[in-house]
Amino acid sequence: MKRDFLTITDLTTKDITDIIKNAMLLKQMWRMGQRPSPLEYKHAALLFRKPSLRTRASFEVGIHQLGGKTLFFSEKEIGMGKRESVFDVAKVLSRYFDLIVIRTFDNNEVVQLAKHAEIPVINALTDLLHPCQIMGDAMTIFEHKGKIEDVSVAFLGDGGNNVTNSWLKLATRIPLDLRIGTTNDRQPNQEILEDAINAGLSKITVTFDPVEAVRDVDCAYADVWASMGEKDKITEREIMLRPFQLNNKLLSHAKNDVIVLHCLPAERSREITDEVMDGPHSVVFDQAENRLHVQKAIILHLFNMCV
Ligand code: CP
Ligand code: NVA
Repeated sequence: MKRDFLTITDLTTKDITDIIKNAMLLKQMWRMGQRPSPLEYKHAALLFRKPSLRTRASFEVGIHQLGGKTLFFSEKEIGMGKRESVFDVAKVLSRYFDLIVIRTFDNNEVVQLAKHAEIPVINALTDLLHPCQIMGDAMTIFEHKGKIEDVSVAFLGDGGNNVTNSWLKLATRIPLDLRIGTTNDRQPNQEILEDAINAGLSKITVTFDPVEAVRDVDCAYADVWASMGEKDKITEREIMLRPFQLNNKLLSHAKNDVIVLHCLPAERSREITDEVMDGPHSVVFDQAENRLHVQKAIILHLFNMCV
């Protein structure tokens, strides 16, 4: 049966830790000049209905590094659901390609595409979820902290977005001390939050107090206050979320060896200051790089291939 990666919970705890270790190995192998080509003759279709720098670049480069090929389709080329149905797109692409990577608005579109495709589908971000990002984040934490289990992470800002939701999904697989510092209006998706709490594996805190969120934390995480598709909301969010800006004053409440993460793109001076983003605790560019290696490991996992 084909495997998809639509959400973190498509993976077991062992899958996640294996993928992170394989991603570390792939990173090292690439740096040492080792060039295996397990994806030779494999073609991936990238369907992107939203903008992207990191996700598109890291999938295209990563697949090429492993000997595969990619073809990129923007919204105007596919017109999925308008020019033709999701069902028909899934069936046609399955006849040409070995893998589909999709970035879109409605998470259900990804679920439907995967249901009807005969090849693996990877969720490269929807309004609801961003699982590839969280795998890269977990790898980055592993790289800098030597572990991911029992690490404390403060996610600050828009608690209702795709990155927060995927962090909550990770908390059902890996024991974490996950604190979401946000406002009453931007709380996480209730179903996803309840699932994470009911899983009973992690300590989950939603707090409206930014200092409580970051106190003695290992990792402080920022994301934009208005995600793609809702940028018109930035003025109201800016007023609500200002106390959650990741600046040196707030960061001073974290552990001395705190690492700072941001999925990027950052709106500097809004959710994160230059002093923090370019400061000694920041690992944001390692984090961006790690998308490349973790996604290679995810693809090998979906194809049941070894590193
Ligand atoms: N972090 C991330 O997914 O970046 P892009 O939107 O540029 O792909
Ligand atoms: N929450 C952000 C993540 C970007 C990678 C967005 O969806 O725009």
